[in-house]
Order: sequence, then structure tokens, then C-alpha cells
Amino acid sequence: MKAINKKLWILLLLLTAPVMALANESNVHLDKAPVNLKNTASIQRGAILFASRCLACHSASYMRYNRLMDLGMTEAQIKKGLELPEDVKLGTIMQAVMDTNSAKLAFGIAPPDLSVIARSRSADWLYTYMRTFYVDTSHPSGWNNTTFPDVAMPFVLADLQGTQTLQVENKNGHEVKRLVLESPGSMCTAKSAICTDGYDAAIADLINYLVFMSDPSAIVRYNLGYFVLGFLFVLLVLVYALKKEIWKDIH
Ligand code: HEC
Repeated sequence: MKAINKKLWILLLLLTAPVMALANESNVHLDKAPVNLKNTASIQRGAILFASRCLACHSASYMRYNRLMDLGMTEAQIKKGLELPEDVKLGTIMQAVMDTNSAKLAFGIAPPDLSVIARSRSADWLYTYMRTFYVDTSHPSGWNNTTFPDVAMPFVLADLQGTQTLQVENKNGHEVKRLVLESPGSMCTAKSAICTDGYDAAIADLINYLVFMSDPSAIVRYNLGYFVLGFLFVLLVLVYALKKEIWKDIH
């Protein structure tokens, strides 16, 4: 009887371990990022948004511009889409425009390299983070974020999403926080609600790109996987035909 009890306890502990680990992580609710690495058009749009809005401060030093060719982009499309100078070599890495020292002086902290951010933070975290900035005048940058409280990054996409404010309501003794869109940006049409249209779609593209960038060869691997499966299928048909041919006279 005692032995069974012990086993039961161990089983219960094992079952609850993942829940406890999750509870430990953070209590911020994360929205599910609609990541789809097969949607290369979305990754391309994300790359363009990334280059025009993020490379000012962040580098992606594991990423070379010519890796975008894996998405089916030509050299000319990369240069035009990402507004690169004509004579730039596409083998160069994605380097921040702002140097680390100036960034430290401006923000108090250097903006981290974003090459593998999708692996360290997760796509869901990034998708939520990019949609939860709100106005906070007590903060040096004028912004704050519910997913990353007291973040030093200013909200550089405010013209697209608009400005959100944080409203705290007291419901039955519980503090309920919610973000309200005060003035919609160019990608939002909804008023006084969280922007869920064009801006969310643009952020989905951006996160799709960040996931691609954290493992650019994944797309090549997927395509190779289909090729290998196709090859094995053809081989199966041939081997089956061969088997029939060899055994034909024996039966
Ligand atoms: C004006 C400069 C600036 C621009 C432009 C900028 N960021 Fe940032 N970002 C920062 C700074 C500074 C931090 C560090 C914040 C901190 O640790 O408090 C940061 C932090 C981050 C983080 C958190 C990293 C971590 O895990 O600690 C992510 C993710 C991020 N930025 C994504 C982006 C994306 C995506 C874009 C483009 C849409 C972007 N940033 C544009 C300055 C910038």
C-alpha cells in the first residue's frame, strides 16, 4: 500500500511539473503568433518592415541580406524593397545604423542584437510585445509596455498602430488592466478598442520574419524534405516494379 502511495505521489509531481514551470515563467498573457514559414510573401513584407523600422537601432549580425534570396527574392528586389544603396554588397550582415555607444547614451541600454530573438523570447512573446506599448509620461522614452514593463525602447511603430493608454479598473477588489487605443494609427481603423486589423497583420509578418531569421535554413530544410519524400516515393514505385519483374517467373 505504501509503495503504491509513493508511486502515486511521484506521478502527481511529474504531471504538475510542466504547469509549475509555466507558472514560474511569467504571469503575462501571451497572444498566439500566427507564424507560417510557408508564407514567403508574409516573411518578405516582414523583412521590409524590419529593415525600415528596426535596423535603425538593432543589428541582426547573424543575418546577411542575401539570405533573403532563399525566400525567392532577386538581388534587385532585395535592394529595392529594403531601400538599400545600389552599390551595397548583399553578402554584408544587417548592421544597426546607430552605433552601440550612441544608443547607450540615448536609451541608457544598448538595443540587443535581434538575430535569434525569436528563439530566446518566443514568437508569441514578440507578437504580444509589439502590440502592448502604451503612453507613459513618467518614463524617459514616453512609452511603457505591459509585456516588458519599464522597457527602454520607444514605440517606433506608433504611427502605424496609434497610441494606446493603460486603464486600470477595480473589479471586486481586483485590479484589471487593459489597453485602450486612444487615437488609431494609419494601419488601424477601430476607435477606442485594441487595434486588431491592419497593424496586427503587419506585426504577424514582422514576427514571421523574426522566426525565419532565427533559423534561415529552416525553409531550405523544409523544401529539401519535400524533395527527399518525393524521391523516396519514386524509388518505392521503381523498387516495387522491379520486385514484380524478378518474381514474375517464380510464382
Ligand atoms: C530607437 C531605437 C530602437 C528602434 C528603432 C527599435 N528598438 Fe527595439 N529596443 C531598443 C532598446 C533601447 C531596447 C532595450 C530595451 C530594454 O532592455 O529595456 C530594445 C529592446 C527590444 C526588444 C527586447 C529584447 C530583449 O529581449 O531584451 C525587442 C524584441 C525589440 N527591441 C524589437 C524591436 C523591433 C522588432 C523593432 C522594429 C519594429 C525595434 N525593436 C526597433 C531600441 C529600439
